[in-house]
Amino acid sequence: MSQPFDPTKLMRPHLRKLVPYSSARHEYQGQANVMLDANENAHGSPLGGMLHRYPDPDQAALKVRLAEVLGTAPERLFMGNGSDQAIDLLLRVFCVPGRDSILICPPTYGMYAVSAATNDVEVVHVPLDADFLPDVGAILAAANERTKLLFLCSPNNPTGNSLRTADITRLLEGFTGIVVLDEAYVDYSSDGSRIALLEQFPNLVLLRTLSKAWGCAGLRLGVAIARPEVISILDRVKPPYNLSAPVAVLALEALGKEAQMKKAVARTIVSRELLARDLATLPMVQQVFPSDANFLLVRFVDAKAVFAFLIAHGIVVRDRGKEPGCEGSLRITVGTEEENEMLMDSLMKFKKNGPIADH
Ligand SMILES: Cc1ncc(COP(=O)(O)O)c(C=O)c1O
Repeated sequence: MSQPFDPTKLMRPHLRKLVPYSSARHEYQGQANVMLDANENAHGSPLGGMLHRYPDPDQAALKVRLAEVLGTAPERLFMGNGSDQAIDLLLRVFCVPGRDSILICPPTYGMYAVSAATNDVEVVHVPLDADFLPDVGAILAAANERTKLLFLCSPNNPTGNSLRTADITRLLEGFTGIVVLDEAYVDYSSDGSRIALLEQFPNLVLLRTLSKAWGCAGLRLGVAIARPEVISILDRVKPPYNLSAPVAVLALEALGKEAQMKKAVARTIVSRELLARDLATLPMVQQVFPSDANFLLVRFVDAKAVFAFLIAHGIVVRDRGKEPGCEGSLRITVGTEEENEMLMDSLMKFKKNGPIADH
């Protein structure tokens, strides 16, 4: 990059002067016995414990532990109510509604475009190529000074493939805004995280989540990892209590069970490969795309009929047929061994010329 990267130059101008909400507990550091500062219920919570108190706005203990697990420093972490909140905040911080744009490479995770639409931010589409890889030249040609965020996803949802480091690097070098690399599924990939690129590229923001490998989608905890200059901008704009006290307690507990997480990931990877092999033997399957994630994108001869047939058997998968490059494809999450078997049993009953003949 020719000029030093300064994220405050990219952010929405009015936010540079923003005075963030200062919570009651932010303004007091000592040890107090009588807390009459936050309009809490002095009689306590019907649930007991400390739930009548507002949580730590910074969730400092959780942040320290998360940083340790993710191999980074606490000042490089933003914690959100799912990575969806980080996506939304990035848009709200960097994109002027009605003026700026983001660039996405479909087929990809739907929330980038939905968050942009919610914030009245234009979406520039540069589809992935036939191998589901980003077209670096086309992306850089389509971006202009108003294109503030480029969203990349590796492994990509819904295609399952990882992006190449060389492509990510070229985009980090050539794109003048912020490159958001969503690594929601990275624990399932042998490539590993690209977090080391942060040393070289201050315009990189990585997204991670506890919703996938950590098995805590219900908790709603996702993070952005970036240089402290970027993190402090996100922290200033976030709702002050975006993570509840029970979430922090449960997340800390989950993060103490890394071995269990790794075991589940290994099991999913074994199942993914078995399922991919089994699906490929079915006559109505045209293609099983290679996956580094916990799902498979599968192209069927008649995806709509297969989708309806599976629903009739009580099995829900995701129809991705309307996404560019995914015509006729369903996205199937890798389940337990038993669930995968039920899926295969159902699919084996599907008759090419009479999908409901077995009913
Ligand atoms: C690529 C990708 N990023 C982010 C998310 C959302 O993660 P979270 O549950 O942390 O909001 C998903 C959810 O499916 C996803 O597929």
